Amino acid sequence: MQIEIRSGDIFNADTNAIVIGFFEDSKELGHEAEALDKVLNGTISKLWKDKKITGKLSEMTEITSLGNISSDLQVVIGLGKQDELTPDRVRGVTGEVCRLLRRKKISSVSIQLMGAGYTDIGEQELTQSLVEGALLGLYVFHKHRSTKPEQSDIEKITIYAALEMMPELEDAVIRGRIVSESVNAARDMVNEPSNYMTPADMVEAAKELAAESERRKGIPLQLRVMERKDMQELGMGALLGVARGSDEPPKFIVLTYRGGGSQGIDLALVGKAITFDSGGISIKPSEKMEEMKGDMAGGASVLAAISAIARLGIKLNVTAVVSATENLPSGRAYKPGDVLKAMNGKTIEVISTDAEGRLALADALSYTGCKIKPRYTVDVATLTGACVIALGNVSMAVFSKDQQLADSLLAAAARAGERAWQMPMFEEYREQNKSDVADVKNVGGRPAGAITAALFLSEFTGSSAWAHLDIAGVSMTDKEKNYCPKGATGVPVRTLINLAVGLASGKKVDKAE
Ligand code: BES
Ligand code: ZN
Ligand code: ZN
Repeated sequence: MQIEIRSGDIFNADTNAIVIGFFEDSKELGHEAEALDKVLNGTISKLWKDKKITGKLSEMTEITSLGNISSDLQVVIGLGKQDELTPDRVRGVTGEVCRLLRRKKISSVSIQLMGAGYTDIGEQELTQSLVEGALLGLYVFHKHRSTKPEQSDIEKITIYAALEMMPELEDAVIRGRIVSESVNAARDMVNEPSNYMTPADMVEAAKELAAESERRKGIPLQLRVMERKDMQELGMGALLGVARGSDEPPKFIVLTYRGGGSQGIDLALVGKAITFDSGGISIKPSEKMEEMKGDMAGGASVLAAISAIARLGIKLNVTAVVSATENLPSGRAYKPGDVLKAMNGKTIEVISTDAEGRLALADALSYTGCKIKPRYTVDVATLTGACVIALGNVSMAVFSKDQQLADSLLAAAARAGERAWQMPMFEEYREQNKSDVADVKNVGGRPAGAITAALFLSEFTGSSAWAHLDIAGVSMTDKEKNYCPKGATGVPVRTLINLAVGLASGKKVDKAE
């Protein structure tokens, strides 16, 4: 899709549709609405007076042209109260209006930069949010349908903004595009069924993302893929245990971007990538088991995030580490009661083969701590059903004993409009992971299941500041919501990108939702 920035009067635009925003608490029409009202022979002011236009958040009023205007359709979109406008609301209303226009088979649209001049949110942030709202909201995954739903695509968006800001706003468009493309790449991977997204396919996806970043930015990303025998040599007994039941060979993916100049790695992003989680011998009930094709969302997120970090040219050295395998039952599968040894030497009693994510991560975190030794480590995983019980499908859980890193993550998430809530890691819970036969066991019982899982992971982290994101409740959605269509959400890719931006700027990301 083509996106351009322009100044001037939006009512002169030669696109099929024009969109302007309208605040709920407007005392007067405002510059854009007034100008448009004139060419529409007073239609907008009449609709406002008649309370047909109220400015309530996401209200969409369609006006088909009668006046002296070349576009066929004008949409006035409610922005809610002026002092409640956030970048995330801009994303939301843009996503919704873009989908409305797509249903109406509109191919080109002009959108006024909503909120500019009326709020203290910077025009660059507003522009980036608008671009993200459009590209994220219009996302579809129709790859496997032979009859595509009837809809044309919006081919061109023209953003109308103030003249002085042009070059900065063009940068903001590029940033919005990079961020959205990487979120959509993560969505693609998660939406892909497991027979099209095996561990080997994850490697291909990593290759493509790396090649794309390199092509656009020219900074090479270094990809290293470890095979089963490499894992054996490194002693990754936990990951290898999970992989035993599957005929698909496991892959351990390490993708590095060096934008920071210095030698060491600043940030490691570690992802769980169970390309299908049947539960293994501790098999899951068949109802909703199909959703477990998305159990590689953590891995997809870290690969997508590092590709955006590279394309944005963020001055940081970042490594993505992904443990990819299926979790299936078979005659060779690992079993409850088995004892596995992770790369850091710790032994694990398997209570449930369905608590496989923490096993795959045990080796990914050990590898990160032993070989990469980054300053910060953030792992991302669809780790526990208990997290879904605690926070539902609204918020991810953040676990960290490093409060500065936790705060940076919470601020990065808030900026992204991705909900995040910190959970405790009190040492008292660790008791539940104690095993009679090994150093730890992989299930700590039902109470506080998301917390004991996080504490299990902490047995395998090195000396770097570490945080764990449990995204089990938020990586997929069954309801379309503003800029988030049904299926994979791409959460927490934007949080991770914002975290990197914040770390690179050498200070904490400030909190602004
Ligand atoms: N992949 C699941 C967690 C999950 C549940 C993700 C729902 C997305 C939605 C994980 O591997 C799992 O099965 N966890 C078990 C652990 C239990 C056996 C201790 C769970 O949460 O039930
Ligand atoms: Zn599982
Ligand atoms: Zn799982």
